[in-house]
Amino acid sequence: MRLVVTTPLHPAPGDDEAARLAAQRHGLVHVARDRRPISRVVAAAGAEGALVLSRARAVLAARDGEHVWSAGMGVLRARRVLARRAGERDPTTHDPFAEAAGIGPGDRVLDCTAGLGADALVAAAAAGPDGAVVGLESSRALAAWTGEGMRRLALEPARRVEIRHADHAAFLAAAAPGSFDVVVFDPMFRYARAEPGGFDVVRRLADPRPLAPETLEAARRVARRWVLVKDGAPGWDLTRLGLVPLPSARGAHRYYARVPALGR
Ligand SMILES: C[S@@+](CC[C@H](N)C(=O)[O-])C[C@H]1O[C@@H](n2cnc3c(N)ncnc32)[C@H](O)[C@@H]1O
Repeated sequence: MRLVVTTPLHPAPGDDEAARLAAQRHGLVHVARDRRPISRVVAAAGAEGALVLSRARAVLAARDGEHVWSAGMGVLRARRVLARRAGERDPTTHDPFAEAAGIGPGDRVLDCTAGLGADALVAAAAAGPDGAVVGLESSRALAAWTGEGMRRLALEPARRVEIRHADHAAFLAAAAPGSFDVVVFDPMFRYARAEPGGFDVVRRLADPRPLAPETLEAARRVARRWVLVKDGAPGWDLTRLGLVPLPSARGAHRYYARVPALGR
């Protein structure tokens, strides 16, 4: 989806300049709103949608309506991980992704499939104040929307998530060996179930390519500890890649496999 970046109908002081800088960050065109309906802004620019940025929100205006960026359950999950790090042992604070990824304090994590950034946010919570997460997203529209949403999220771990527009195969080919502690893949599931709010628009914007075996090998070179691959139940993509899922709770909707780093 070709996006332009603009402001709400009644921008606050500074919104227009902030939108201009955001457009530069993401290689998108900035368009002044000039009190026009969003459909007119988009049509006049020959675009397909707009990223409407205010101080508090990153809204994707598409043909089917306006979608406020949200990391969905990612915020609640990140809060639970923070509670666990603070010593809380309530079993309801268990996060299967954080557990499977085995991320510890100070880790550098590469999320190769950032999407709306929920897992990246959870990873940043698990990595703590000395850790960092780089989230790669090959859809320019999604990278811009999630990057701007994350900047506006009032949750400390969000400050340690950097979203970049990049194809993970190209990024991994150029990355130094062992430059991230853990590398994560959560490709689009080919056999998708209906997903809670927000995911339909992601499905339309997202890169549907499955994880290539040679990309997994490249990730094993870049990881210092291991690579985590996530799949929807019953885990057909893991089978295709010759991976054995970690034991999971009965009825789990997600399966995870850990692949050791090369040289470990
Ligand atoms: C299932 S979603 C990830 C959801 C994410 N884990 C979250 O918590 O929000 C998969 C994402 O990976 C992206 N993707 C697919 N292939 C990619 C590639 N080669 N490089 C970077 N991102 C890719 C898709 O565009 C999509 O947004």
